[in-house]
Amino acid sequence: MTAEYKVHGSVAVITMANPPVNGLGLATRQGIVDGLGRANADAAVTSIVITGAGGAFSGGADIKEFGTDKSLQEPNLLSVIAAIENSAKPVVAAMHSVAMGGGLELALGCHYRIAAPGCSIALPEVKLGLIPGAGGTQRLPRVIGVEAALNLIVSGESVKSEMIGAVPGQKLFDKMAASAESLATEALAFAQSVADARPLPLVRNFPCKHPEGDAYFQFARNMVKGMAKNFPAPAKCVDAVEAATKKKFAEGMLVEREIFINLMWTAESRALRHLFMAERAASKIPDVPSDTPKRDIKQVGVIGAGTMGGGISMNFLNAGIPVKILEMKQEALDRGIATIKKNYEAQVKKGKLKQDKYDQRMALLTTTLSYDDFKDCDLIIEAVFEEMGVKEAVFKQLDAVAKPGAILASNTSTLDVDKIAAFTKRPQDVVGMHFFSPANVMKLLEVVRGKDTAKDVLATVMAIGKKIKKTSVVSGVCDGFIGNRMIEQYSRQAGFLLDEGCTPQQVDRAVEKFGFAMGPFRMGDLAGNDIGWAIRKRRATERADMKYSRTADKLCELGRFGQKTGAGWYDYQAGKRDAIPSDLVNKMIEDHRKELGITPRKISDEEIVQRLVFSLVNEGAHILEDGIASKSGDIDMVYLTGYGFPIHRGGPMHYASEVGLFNVVQAMDRFAKNPLDDAEFWKPAPLLAKLAAEGKSFQ
Ligand code: NAI
Repeated sequence: MTAEYKVHGSVAVITMANPPVNGLGLATRQGIVDGLGRANADAAVTSIVITGAGGAFSGGADIKEFGTDKSLQEPNLLSVIAAIENSAKPVVAAMHSVAMGGGLELALGCHYRIAAPGCSIALPEVKLGLIPGAGGTQRLPRVIGVEAALNLIVSGESVKSEMIGAVPGQKLFDKMAASAESLATEALAFAQSVADARPLPLVRNFPCKHPEGDAYFQFARNMVKGMAKNFPAPAKCVDAVEAATKKKFAEGMLVEREIFINLMWTAESRALRHLFMAERAASKIPDVPSDTPKRDIKQVGVIGAGTMGGGISMNFLNAGIPVKILEMKQEALDRGIATIKKNYEAQVKKGKLKQDKYDQRMALLTTTLSYDDFKDCDLIIEAVFEEMGVKEAVFKQLDAVAKPGAILASNTSTLDVDKIAAFTKRPQDVVGMHFFSPANVMKLLEVVRGKDTAKDVLATVMAIGKKIKKTSVVSGVCDGFIGNRMIEQYSRQAGFLLDEGCTPQQVDRAVEKFGFAMGPFRMGDLAGNDIGWAIRKRRATERADMKYSRTADKLCELGRFGQKTGAGWYDYQAGKRDAIPSDLVNKMIEDHRKELGITPRKISDEEIVQRLVFSLVNEGAHILEDGIASKSGDIDMVYLTGYGFPIHRGGPMHYASEVGLFNVVQAMDRFAKNPLDDAEFWKPAPLLAKLAAEGKSFQ
């Protein structure tokens, strides 16, 4: 039973106890209903308090029950709330710390509510592509007003109890407790004070009106449309709240239920729920138990104050962790520090960062030209030039000076982390920390696990990733790790599409319509087309079997590296980032086709998207098979947080499962027959072929 029952004098206290946030799983729901039954049957009890053990009142639905029948099994949440409303004795919710989703809906079913200050109040269902499904949309407007309720429901954001409690006329809280510590005592006293109150107040009976109903809801609809273009749920929040103002309570509940169930079946909600679970699962490494001891990280060292070193340092400064940056020359240090300052100052100017916070962060930053100053560093991250020789020199010096147990990390994007580790006598302490540019902005951190990387090093790096607010995903060692290994296949397809008849604009438009933040060619111009060029030159010797379109090389031969050179696949005006189609590039592509004797054909947007996305999927399946990623959700997280894959599609692997792996494989078979494409690549990865044949999906 995950709800405790105790009687204090004349008050029965039901305490939800389902760590970590008292999720309303089946056993907890049953425990509440049983407690209500006992309290009503006990003549000595005159009132009832419901509260939560530990650090929450209740965080809502139990995520362990997500997607299982258990969440629907009786007593479901609606039945629990009905049991509370039907209790002959008054029920008081004693709310503290967190009252979210179903937890808040449960409290709204109680006759009275007392809250401690600092309690986070939210209905976050919209973040999972849903609306609240247990009366939240019908009851919340009745206690805090239509507009305030809709704001909370549409945004899914949380508000502190004391802010709501201070609003005149609010009926969410009948009483604010003086503090979290005094809540239990105050709740008992309050429950005693209402023991004889009859009739018992029910939120469902409170009035719900908006003085300018039609105009307001029209306005709300327009606002929401702009906010949530790929998701149906926000607009449905408006419908549900409008129903609360226009229909009887019971009818409004039916409207809410119908919307909730319909949303549950949308691809968008499935994608968001997948993302929610995958994000949590990414921090769990199969063979590294969650109680693995972690090393203490009090001082960080960063080597290289260039593009990446500066951004990496900012992450730690933002989290209050001191950073020491090392460079070879004072000028390089000065340049790096100036860039960090410029970034922070821009945030101060925009009002996003307070001056005192900026000062505090800069005070945590020191610089050095000597490795001796790294003796006290607990974590050292190298972000120097991408050359094995340079990495070798750096890691040998680190090995000589770093204290025993210090974690030595490399930000390399293409080099072999095992080789780098072998430059030291402590390969167990070496790990890859692959940040994405701009490192202070991008959420993704690929944690590259070398063959000798110690488990506590991994556990520590994953924990520090969380502290600096990154989504950390573990990757094994391979060329490109998870993200770049897949993007290489995607870029190859983009090149073939040009050869066969597309323009860069057409490809970008199709992919952006699918939902990507940026198509492959605009992305190339932003990141620098020279990066791919360097990789292809390396491939020419390492993997001569890999077929490439030559268009991208031709572009680079013209010096068109992208935004940084003012021209790439597109033209750019000085100081602007707008991509302007380039006649010169389109002519270059046409000439190239002629040279190859290719007659261009019209290619549909559907084919463009399928070839690009399924190339990610096939390589992703190889990555899973090779054990580079431990689960398909990790691959999705990499693409959602590091490569602008559309959130409402849930990542490439989830999307493939939505399309149906059988259909994906059939499309690949079709692509393999195209003589201008790479038939060898389109052979479905064995894992993909097997799952498709068995009618299964990646999850
Ligand atoms: P960068 O050229 O902007 O900066 C490198 C810095 O390292 C320079 O300031 C240089 O003076 C310094 N440096 C070079 N050798 C050194 C040494 N022996 N000791 C101390 N400092 C030294 O390069 P960037 O772009 O910051 O890249 C650094 C690393 O990050 C590379 O391994 C790169 O592959 C990786 N990376 C780069 C990404 C990007 O988008 N730029 C993304 C992810 C990883």
